[in-house]
Amino acid sequence: MDNRTKKDRQLIREALKARQRAYTPYSHYTVGAALEAQDGTVFRGCNIENASFGATNCAERTALFTAVAEGYHRFSTIAIVSGPESADEEELKTTPYPSPCGICRQALREFADPGEFRVILARSEEDYKVYALKELLPESFGPEYL
Ligand code: THU
Repeated sequence: MDNRTKKDRQLIREALKARQRAYTPYSHYTVGAALEAQDGTVFRGCNIENASFGATNCAERTALFTAVAEGYHRFSTIAIVSGPESADEEELKTTPYPSPCGICRQALREFADPGEFRVILARSEEDYKVYALKELLPESFGPEYL
């Protein structure tokens, strides 16, 4: 196994741990994210729902905002896992691949090079797809426009 694959798997493992913290009393849909900064530091995030539904925060932005609050501004990779609250890791293997919402794609864009930043959509440590952020958010708007 090459080094990148090893690191991808570690990041997916972190995302699986993060998913266990998801607070999802309304949708019962749980998401875990692990965001790697360019120096290798990893930040975890889960989705956090709210009785006022619009106040819900996605897992990806939880990880991102935690990292930014800690002073990190440049990131290389995010791993995402998701599935019904009731699904254990075995059952996640048969659920659809996760997909970050449009708001999270844009939020990540602020702190990432769209051509370089890697988005890992994982069903398990062994089964995942990798995209560049640019592929998920083409022709994107970013800080350099302002
Ligand atoms: N959710 C995420 O955490 N990330 C996404 O990219 C998609 C949606 C959460 C928000 C909400 O708690 C639940 O999934 C259902 O939309």
